[in-house]
Amino acid sequence: MENKNLLTKIQEAAAYIKEQYPTAPEIGLILGSGLGVIADLVENAKVITYDSIPHFPVSTVEGHAGELLLGTIQGKHVLLMKGRFHMYEGYGVEVVSFPVRVMKELGVHTLLVTNAAGGVNTSYEVGDLMLIKDHINFTFRNPLIGPNFNELGVRFPDMSEAYSRKLRQVAKDVAAEQGVKLQEGVYIGLLGPSYETPAEIRMMRTLGADAVGMSTVAEVIVARHAGMQVLGFSCISNMAAGILDQPLSHEEVMETTERVKPKFLKLILGIVAKLG
Ligand code: 6GU
Repeated sequence: MENKNLLTKIQEAAAYIKEQYPTAPEIGLILGSGLGVIADLVENAKVITYDSIPHFPVSTVEGHAGELLLGTIQGKHVLLMKGRFHMYEGYGVEVVSFPVRVMKELGVHTLLVTNAAGGVNTSYEVGDLMLIKDHINFTFRNPLIGPNFNELGVRFPDMSEAYSRKLRQVAKDVAAEQGVKLQEGVYIGLLGPSYETPAEIRMMRTLGADAVGMSTVAEVIVARHAGMQVLGFSCISNMAAGILDQPLSHEEVMETTERVKPKFLKLILGIVAKLG
């Protein structure tokens, strides 16, 4: 994606979406592997396939539908991405985070991200939900590299509260009300697509990571640059390498997210109801 055209591309994509759904969405949701079912929460949904949106790339991986939904959840206008873009698919970091720029252009002020992640913290259990307290960018790619567009945000954005403390408290309150166990920890984002070795996982645990995945970080950096508040959740779909005496598989990731989805759905619904 050429930088000189970035603003135009954002505006063209946003204009197309606005034609299909004129009301400005306030809340953006990005759903990870197997969590697309959260899309069923959207009422009166207008579905827009990614391939029809100008400058939007097309998602390829299994379990990611590639649709944008606009509608309401709990009476709030939302924009929901069913399926996201990953760098392991071959997309650049600026492509992966482009939809978040479009969300901002449309009026989104709060971003809710979900992903499936491997448990690095040995006290976690498969099927746990983890509120993301902070992240470590182990992709070593940054979507903000290049000329800064001051219209979009500052050159050197602060990341000291990447995941809103206030929204995390809302999430904890809702989880407590619902009797849902909610871990809180640090997400470490890698490029993938191979899973990590046991030695790499030990290293990441030493570095302070609690869960490991292949998404989220680039989108959150762009969201913070744009001044959006962010709330993130990882579904611990499996334990990372070297913790249990068993190999990792994408099937396990999908099976766990399938199993966890009722409590995850309820939690998301409860939180959206309380977002301003
Ligand atoms: Cl163990 N690693 C990474 N990078 N992504 C994952 C995962 C592990 N489990 C689910 N997604």
